[in-house]
This record gives sequence, structure tokens and C-alpha cells, in this order.
Amino acid sequence: MSLPPKKLYIKTYGCQMNVYDTERMVDVMGHEGYEVTDAPDDADLVILNTCHIREKAAEKVYSDIGRLRVMKEKQAKKAEASGRESKKSILAVGGCVAQAEGAEIQRRAPTVDMVFGPQTYHRLPEMTNQANKIKKTGGRPRIVDTDLVVSEKFESLSKKAIAPKKTAFLTVQEGCDKFCTYCVVPYTRGGEFSRSFEDVMTDARKLNEAGVLEVTLLGQNVNAYHGMSRENVEWSLARLIRHLADVTDFKRIRYTTSHPHDMTDELIAIHGEVAQCMPYLHLPVQSGSDKIVKAMNRHHTIASYMKTIDSIRAVRPDIALSGDFIVGFPGETDADFQATMKLVKEVDYAQAYSFMYSERPGTPAAGWEHQVEEHVKSERLAELQEALNHQQRAFNDKSVGKVMSVLLERTGKQDTHLVGRSPYMQAVHVDVGDKATVESYFGQMVDMKIISAGPRSLKGEFAT
Ligand code: SAH
Ligand code: SF4
Ligand code: F3S
Repeated sequence: MSLPPKKLYIKTYGCQMNVYDTERMVDVMGHEGYEVTDAPDDADLVILNTCHIREKAAEKVYSDIGRLRVMKEKQAKKAEASGRESKKSILAVGGCVAQAEGAEIQRRAPTVDMVFGPQTYHRLPEMTNQANKIKKTGGRPRIVDTDLVVSEKFESLSKKAIAPKKTAFLTVQEGCDKFCTYCVVPYTRGGEFSRSFEDVMTDARKLNEAGVLEVTLLGQNVNAYHGMSRENVEWSLARLIRHLADVTDFKRIRYTTSHPHDMTDELIAIHGEVAQCMPYLHLPVQSGSDKIVKAMNRHHTIASYMKTIDSIRAVRPDIALSGDFIVGFPGETDADFQATMKLVKEVDYAQAYSFMYSERPGTPAAGWEHQVEEHVKSERLAELQEALNHQQRAFNDKSVGKVMSVLLERTGKQDTHLVGRSPYMQAVHVDVGDKATVESYFGQMVDMKIISAGPRSLKGEFAT
């Protein structure tokens, strides 16, 4: 008789890099006989794949650990009452909080059995076996694995299968050497690392053969990609995109996140030349004030950012622009903030993310004088978000009446509804009217006429 499959529950916090990592963890543990479950109380292994970027994100992990502890205690009591042995599930904290805090997590939350960083999850099977052995003998595992050697992880993962879907992430670059003065990423993900051209192509071919239509090339600084080939030739992101467009059947190619400093002329040109390269670019600027971007160590000026935007619009006038903003960085005055508002007005974003500055331990700006008061930060954030929401709504409104290709990915709120993405990353909802046929549309790229727009999404109907 074969054993029932073990169950794995993973919760993902943070950025797309973590989404990608979660998918790889599912692959790795799938090889060990683990199946994914939506119920943490049913799982043999619970993984929290965490984010350290802002204080709120990191603190959320601890409140989730608290909830899981209560759940475990209840389970144990129930089992005791019915004379059964309680489930010895493993609680693991992975990702960027794990990397930043290491064993400190287990001091603060002793229920945590394993702590592993973003560069060591290929060793999950060994860690889990070890933890299970210790648990069987009634011990406490307290495993910590937070090495920062990126290449080893990719070598190990490349040997594993890739789950087939119609849209997929492909990590080409990891880590960051930019050291913005507010940011934890260079410490949690390590230095900048580009995967070799051959490794990227091996994964790309696998995705292509599995029928993937849309690939998103991922990296913390994806446009700093400079992978070497076996012949010792350096591949830029632009060349890589061109090559992927030539040799694969991908209908859509995206890349994220880009840094303004690495937005080369070659990469800008791709947007006008490669049809598969989608007209959407996430290009964070953080602030519209030269003084602040300098203090942030962003390696670009406002003028150079605006020049880049102009050049992209010259080759691809319909490009949808997105960005990230931080308000209330130390030393930000009203005038600096107004410079941000001015930049937002000039760029006219299709969509953007904005945050209040959060002091992160170990980053240079954390100890600086002239920290901005919380109430000022919230007022600025509200003003900025109002402008950004307004722009997003206007961008969506302009889509009404247009016919766009939409890649249908998932069901919507109602069971006759499907949701997909436009070339500009807008969510497009369609009612197919019949529950039975919903699944037959999954993964299809269809032309849709946009019939109405909302603040965050569009409604479409099949174009005839
Ligand atoms: N590598 C990407 C983004 C990394 S983090 C880039 O450079 O653009 C995603 C976003 O989180 C950042 O762009 C920034 O806007 C925000 N962020 C990072 N650290 C932050 C902090 N300490 N406080 C508030 N927001 C922060
Ligand atoms: Fe963080 Fe700056 Fe690197 Fe982006 S470029 S990951 S914000 S240090
Ligand atoms: Fe968060 Fe780590 Fe991504 S800190 S934003 S999960 S790189």
C-alpha cells in the first residue's frame, strides 16, 4: 500500500521574485512526494515565504506565526483528547525575513522549526528530512540555512521539472549591487548575479515546450542582466529578449523590475522593434526631487529619468508606464514632495505603487536625522495616491471601445467569469455566460472589445 501524499502549505509575501521562488519550492518538494494544500492545518510542512522590504511586511510574518502556533496547540489538544498522536507538522520561515533575521526568528518565535534564505531552498528536502528525524525523537529542530551563494541554487533547480502554465516567470538575474540607502534587498538577496545565457535558454525552451505563451523575465534589477555564454560572450537583456523572440513561440515577453540607470538605448529600442515585447514598463523613480534621489543613492537624476521616458515613448507611443514611489524619505521637504507630484503629472502613469518610507534595520538611511513624521508621511501618501489612482482610472477609461488581445488566466468572482491581462497589464474580466465552458478558455489568447472600465480593471466581450 502506498503512503498518502504529504501536504505542503506555502504562503507567499512580497514581490514576484518570491512568487517565482514559491513555484520552485513546490517543484522541489513535489519531487519528494508533497502536494500543495490550501489548508495550513492539514499540512505536514508549512512554509512562510517572507518579505523584509518594509516593517509592516516583516511584522505580518510574526502575527501569522502566532496564528499558526495557536492552530497547532488546538490540534495537539484535540489529538490528546481522542488518544491519538498529534500531527508533527513542520513550520518553516523562508525568504527575505529569514535571510535578514536568521536564528533570531526562532528566539522570538520558538515554534519555528526551520529558517532558510532565498538562496538555499533547493536544500529543502534535506532540511525537511533532518527536521522530521529530530521531531520523531521529540526534539526541536531549529535548523538555519541562510547562505548567500546564488549560483548553486540555480544549478540544482535547473535539473527539476517546471510546472506548465500559459504564463510563467523566469528568473534571469538576482540580487542587487545598487545599495539604495533605504533598501534591504542587497542584504537579503545578496550581490547582483546573472544566470548564464545557456541556463536561461534551457529554462526558456522548457517553458516554450510546455506551451507557455507569456514569459516574464525576472530580476531585482533585471535590466542589469549580463549573462555570459559558453563562448564567453556577454548577453545583455536586450539581446536576450531579441533572441527569445526569434527562437521561441512566446507571444508575449515582459521583464521586471528595471532600474532607470540600466535602461540602455539598446533596450529602449527593443520596445519599438520586437513585436513580442509588451508595451508595459515598470520603471521605479521613487521621488521627483534630485536632492532626494541623490540621498537615496539611486544612480540617476530626474532629468535622466525623464529623458528615458521620452525615448521609450518615441519608439513605442502606446507604452503603459508604471513606477514605485517612496514618500517621507529622511529630509524630504514639502517642496521635494511637490517635485514628486510634478513628475507624476508629467509622466502620466498607467499604474504605480507608492509607500511610506519605512526605516529598515541595517540600511544607511535608518539612522539619519530629519526622519519625517508619520502623519506627514500619511498625508503625502494620500495626496500622491489620489493623483496616481486618477491617472490609472483615466488610462483605463481610454481603453473603452478598443480591441485588445487578452490572455485568459483564471476564473473571476463568479463562476462564469474569466480574467486575463491586456498587453498593458490591465486585468480584463469577461462573462462567458456558461459555467461549463469556462475551463476551455484557460490559457487562450483572444481579441476582446473593451466595453467598460473601472479603477483597477476592465470589462470586455469577445470581439467578432
Ligand atoms: N529592485 C526594485 C524594487 C525593489 S523593492 C527597484 O529598484 O526598483 C520594491 C519597492 O519597495 C521599491 O521600489 C521601493 O519603492 C519600495 N521600498 C523599498 N524599500 C523601502 C523602504 N525602506 N520603505 C518604503 N518603501 C520601500
Ligand atoms: Fe533595492 Fe535599490 Fe536594489 Fe532596487 S535598486 S533592489 S530599491 S537597492
Ligand atoms: Fe520583499 Fe525580498 Fe522581494 S524583501 S520585495 S521579497 S526581494
